[in-house]
Amino acid sequence: MDIIDSVVGFRTWRKQAGSVALVPTMGNLHAGHLSLVERARELAEQTVVSIFVNPLQFGAGEDYSVYPRTLEKDADKLQQAGVDVLFAPSVEEVYPVPLSEATTIHVPELSEVLCGKSRPGHFAGMTTVVGKLFNMIQPTAAVFGQKDFQQLMIIRQMVADLNFPVAIVGMPIMRETDGLAMSSRNQYLNPTDRKHAPKLYQSLLSARERLLNGQDIAKIQSEWTQTMQNAGFSPEYLSIRSVRDFSETTNASEAVLLAAARLGTTRLIDNLVVK
Ligand code: PAF
Repeated sequence: MDIIDSVVGFRTWRKQAGSVALVPTMGNLHAGHLSLVERARELAEQTVVSIFVNPLQFGAGEDYSVYPRTLEKDADKLQQAGVDVLFAPSVEEVYPVPLSEATTIHVPELSEVLCGKSRPGHFAGMTTVVGKLFNMIQPTAAVFGQKDFQQLMIIRQMVADLNFPVAIVGMPIMRETDGLAMSSRNQYLNPTDRKHAPKLYQSLLSARERLLNGQDIAKIQSEWTQTMQNAGFSPEYLSIRSVRDFSETTNASEAVLLAAARLGTTRLIDNLVVK
C-alpha cells in the first residue's frame, strides 16, 4: 500500500490508476470502515482510503482537538484490508488559505435540518471537504456508511447538483453485539454510559414497531423523548424521512427513522430503515 500526503503526489499516482473507489474517513478505523473498504474493492480496479480530520466540519467547542488520531494503526488495518493507497494530507495541504477565506460548498435545505440545527456549519464543512477530495482523487465511486444517513443524502444531492462523475454507494450500519452503532466517538463513553448507549437503538426499534402498528407520529415522538429522558439521555430529535428524497413522511414503506441524543458529553446518532 502506498501512503501519499500531497495532492501533486496523488495526481502522479492517479494518472496510471484506471478506475478508483474511494472511502473518505477521518481515521480511527473500526469494523464499520473496513466494511466500506471491502465494498470499495468490488467497485473499481484500485481502492483509495483518505484519512483527514477536517477542521471545517467541527464547530466551536466540538471535539476537533481531541478527535482520536491513530494513523499508524489505521495504516496497518488498511494494508491488511488490501487497500492500494492511503491518502493522508495535512490541514495545510487541503486548505492552503485560512479556513475563513476558503471557498466552500453548501447544500441548502438538507443541511439545515436535524443534525444541521444543532451543528451549524457542520454539513457545509463536510460537503466542502468531500467535494475537494473528489477533485483531488477523482474517484469513479465513493462509499459512505448509512450511520450518517443525513450526510449521505446531502452528498448525493451535492453530486447531482454539481455533476460530480462519481457513483455514491451507501452501506448498512455495522453494530456492536448489543446493537450500538459503531462510531469512532463511542470511545468517549464512560463505562456506565457505554452500558446505556444501546438504548438509543432499542428506542428506534420500538418506534418502528409503533409506526408499523399505525400509531400517530406525534405520539411516537413525545413518548420517545420521555423514554430517552428516563434512560438518562438528553434527546435531540426523532424524525421520519423518506429514504428516496429525505422529505418528511408518514409512509412506513419508504421511511427511515433518524435519532440524535446526548449521553453524558457524547452525542450519539442512529437510524433505522423501517422496512
Ligand atoms: O463521515 C466522515 O467520517 C466525514 O464526515 C467525512 C465524510 C470523511 C468527511 O470529512
